[in-house]
Amino acid sequence: MKVEDIKKIAVMGAGDMGHGIAEVALLSGYKVAMRDIEQRFVDKGLARIKESLEKLVEKQKVTEENKKAMLANIGIFVDVDKAVKDADFVIEAAPEIMDIKKKVFQALDESAPKHAVLASNTSNMSITEIASVTKRPEKVVGMHFFNPAVLMRLVEVIKGDKTSEETMKVAYDLALKMNKVPVRVEKDSIGFVYNRVNAPNSILLGAIIERGWATPEEIDAKMRKVGMPMGPYELMDYVGLDVAYHGALYFAERLSPEFKPPKWMKEKVDAGTLGKKTGKGIFDWSKGRPEINLAKAKEDFDPTDLIAIQVNEATKLLEGGVVKSPDDIDKAMVNGGGAAFGPFQLATGIGYDKIAKRCEELAKKFGVKAFEPTKTLKSGKI
Ligand SMILES: NC(=O)c1ccc[n+]([C@@H]2O[C@H](COP(=O)([O-])OP(=O)(O)OC[C@H]3O[C@@H](n4cnc5c(N)ncnc54)[C@H](O)[C@@H]3O)[C@@H](O)[C@H]2O)c1
Repeated sequence: MKVEDIKKIAVMGAGDMGHGIAEVALLSGYKVAMRDIEQRFVDKGLARIKESLEKLVEKQKVTEENKKAMLANIGIFVDVDKAVKDADFVIEAAPEIMDIKKKVFQALDESAPKHAVLASNTSNMSITEIASVTKRPEKVVGMHFFNPAVLMRLVEVIKGDKTSEETMKVAYDLALKMNKVPVRVEKDSIGFVYNRVNAPNSILLGAIIERGWATPEEIDAKMRKVGMPMGPYELMDYVGLDVAYHGALYFAERLSPEFKPPKWMKEKVDAGTLGKKTGKGIFDWSKGRPEINLAKAKEDFDPTDLIAIQVNEATKLLEGGVVKSPDDIDKAMVNGGGAAFGPFQLATGIGYDKIAKRCEELAKKFGVKAFEPTKTLKSGKI
């Protein structure tokens, strides 16, 4: 199949990501079927799409006629069969729980046309394992959009062990058609690129909070002061603490126990305080985006520490052949999070020797193996 053969895209899940991906598909001129497990969820997803298109009309990015045409192009469903029976490409955005993903893919394999590609928007999970429940693993691929899908440009296109080159190319070309910046992930590896490179930050930030060295607001204020559009804790709330929690659990199970989510996060997830989507998480979202008091910035927290452990983690992806080049990692980090520079671009300015030394110090200070500098980092040959 070629990208030109795609006429209709089905999206499984109408939540934060599902409705956003459905809107991206509409904006790119596709017919769309959006499916969730209850009518009220698809209704809500559709209302969010309407609201967002309305804003685009106000900003004169979309005409009123265009909006109407797009809304005529989307159907909403609770029944899987009906949603996917004539789809050429399916994108799954159901919760980040492997059992749910497997059930969804089994159903998709039974109901979607034989030629259809089945993509997962999973943030971290193995594409190979998801594909294993289907009779078409060569047509299963990862297509990892970022939140909010309409605005964020990165799409990681992930190759499972059995994904064919044809499927990789169709998914990559589809991302281009959607006006996104695709990055090929050549090996199915936990967290792919963006989330993997960021993962050690959660260990460091968690350790700082647990030791009582700073509050989330103090760290976020510092990161905002140095130019980050959103601090790391606010970002966790924005993404959803449940998503962050399940992601950390998956990393802990599959990569290293050091990634285990902190106790406070489990407590918040159990209490249903999940961040923006429930109005309260680490911060209060009931009146909109939380006010971060920049005067509270933790001045002796050095943001370069976060860069150092990111660069180190990124070298592990190079060593493992997960991506072809450092440029791909920089491209992913810039387009997935709105940073001005990627880790390797920053590292060139700081110096690899300094970064390796700092990683060694952090590994000792916190007793964390994940911070230990890799051979590649120590060699400085990147
Ligand atoms: N939130 C983010 O920032 C983000 C970013 C990138 C990727 N992701 C990934 O996208 C996926 C969805 O995340 P989200 O944030 O949209 O979650 P969400 O909780 O907002 O939405 C998930 C939706 O899936 C629905 N659902 C449950 N079972 C289903 C099934 N069997 N079939 C179809 N729909 C089903 C739920 O009812 C819910 O509406 C996850 O894999 C997540 O890791 C999330």
